[in-house]
Amino acid sequence: MDKVRLIEKLNEAISLELGALLQYNQYSHVITGPERRIWAEFFEETAEEAFKHAKKFASRVVALGGTPAVEPAPVKQTTDLQEMLANSLEVERRAVKVYTEALSFCEDNPAYRNILEEQISDEQTDVEELEKYLNQIQRATSSSSQRKSEIA
Ligand SMILES: [Fe+2]
Repeated sequence: MDKVRLIEKLNEAISLELGALLQYNQYSHVITGPERRIWAEFFEETAEEAFKHAKKFASRVVALGGTPAVEPAPVKQTTDLQEMLANSLEVERRAVKVYTEALSFCEDNPAYRNILEEQISDEQTDVEELEKYLNQIQRATSSSSQRKSEIA
């Protein structure tokens, strides 16, 4: 296990989770319109999930002898639902990538390997959920603009 590089990578993941926490929390507040009822709750729950992940790996970084990161990754601001979901998908894809990189530094340690494999699987589920939401929304948007052009 390469402790130094693992700590570094986990700190990158913590920053990403802290940025995600702020981004999701912001989206839960600024989302408006008829779909607010559904999406506000979704973003709120996802923010809590990101916070849980940040805490989980902060505790691991300390156990490994490091200092957990406190600087959040940059937040992308928007009030457009489709952009919110696209930005969320970007964050979750980055999470899969960063945790996969972290895994490469601890493959010989069964406990850490297990923790990271589970984490990657969780993040991958989030990626797939967001892809499903986005597909549906993009289809709805393109068919409504097609209808508009047919009328015009
Ligand atoms: Fe996460």
